[in-house]
Amino acid sequence: MKYRSVKGTHDLFGSEIAKFDQIITEINKLGQIFNFLKIETPIFESTELFSKPLGEQSDVVLKEMYTFVDRNKDSLTLRPEYTTPMIRAAISNNLISQLPCKLFGIGPMFRRERPQKGRYRQFHQINFENFGSLDVFAEVELINIANNFLKNILPKNDIMLYVNSLGDRDTLKKYKEKLKIFFEKYKKDLSEESKLKILTNPIRILDSKDSKDKNIITSAPLIYDSLSNNSLNKFEQLKKYLDEYKIKYKEDYSLVRGLDYYCETVFEFKTNSLGSQNTIIGGGRYDGLFEILGGPDIPGVGWAGGIERIMMLMPIPVKTKKQVHFAIINEKYQSHALKAYKIISDEKIPVYWNYKFNLKKSLSKSNEFQGSFVIIVGEDEFNLDKYTLKNLEKGSQVSVSLSELIKHIKNG
Ligand code: HAM
Repeated sequence: MKYRSVKGTHDLFGSEIAKFDQIITEINKLGQIFNFLKIETPIFESTELFSKPLGEQSDVVLKEMYTFVDRNKDSLTLRPEYTTPMIRAAISNNLISQLPCKLFGIGPMFRRERPQKGRYRQFHQINFENFGSLDVFAEVELINIANNFLKNILPKNDIMLYVNSLGDRDTLKKYKEKLKIFFEKYKKDLSEESKLKILTNPIRILDSKDSKDKNIITSAPLIYDSLSNNSLNKFEQLKKYLDEYKIKYKEDYSLVRGLDYYCETVFEFKTNSLGSQNTIIGGGRYDGLFEILGGPDIPGVGWAGGIERIMMLMPIPVKTKKQVHFAIINEKYQSHALKAYKIISDEKIPVYWNYKFNLKKSLSKSNEFQGSFVIIVGEDEFNLDKYTLKNLEKGSQVSVSLSELIKHIKNG
């Protein structure tokens, strides 16, 4: 039997893992600059942590969670997202004794979605959350981090930020009622999937990609027209700050997001280059979520980005470090060669040997791996207590002693 990776999962190696690591390095840097504390939480949690807050009628809860019962009959779920585990961790470890509490984390998430380009069943997210701030600047700080991240990791990109306000929870509740009445009128023309959502989750119909639905949606009432003065002021303030920070954005009054816990500001960074799975980063405010999770009344705002989607937009990273490869002609000279291997690697210069005593094969491996130097060790080198250092970029070569090797490599 041949084993394959499970549908919707993938292995990361080669240039893909190089991109992955580049993202992690950049995120760790930004976490430090903006003083967010790094956190890692368990990959599985109690199922309840997700079912209510994400929305009993949301796609994630209805169809996509990997849930299992363990031997104690506890229902556990592989985390489909990071916001609720972070809140759980902040409450459990009393990280909220001082507010604001700012956390960031990176890790795998699990959703049983239909796999396609940019959509997997195990994928990775980067995640930033700010607990305890009602100030609109909390949104702006987070958006600024996301914007800096995207600019640094994807210097040339077509990504655009979209913003909307969903208003406070009361407005949102009333708006859902309005939508129910509206969609009931057009029920017979809606797709089967949207019909089912009229009573349970009418706001999700606004996100439908079905062409019949889209026609109806264009005339649906907009939440913007129901916003309170307070929400409108916050939204205006947000846009003012974004202008001051010179962050480009577009208002999108139909932007609603897929999880149920949002209110007030929502935002997404989208690209045109990835087909239908085009949201790179999504987030917003979720005041009230702490209480749903049994915590105190603490407001929150955050975002998550899909690492795989970001990687699809990244160029293959260029190797910056010099690599020194070894070509050892015969087993007799191995220990002479490996003395050099030790001192070069101790200097933190990357080294490689293919474990073969074959000059031709070693040189061709060096070419394949784009080595910067090859150290050739044969009879002459052994007898003279020297090493032949071939500079592959310049095409030159020198015969040097062990003590001179590092200087030549560094200067080369
Ligand atoms: P989300 O929109 O469900 O939000 O996911 C955030 C990002 O994760 C998406 O924009 C996308 O880049 C990536 N993503 C989601 N599902 C998949 C998938 N199946 N395959 C590949 N990438 C995927 C959240 O998860 C919220 N917790 C974000 C948040 C944080 N809101 C406030 N704080």
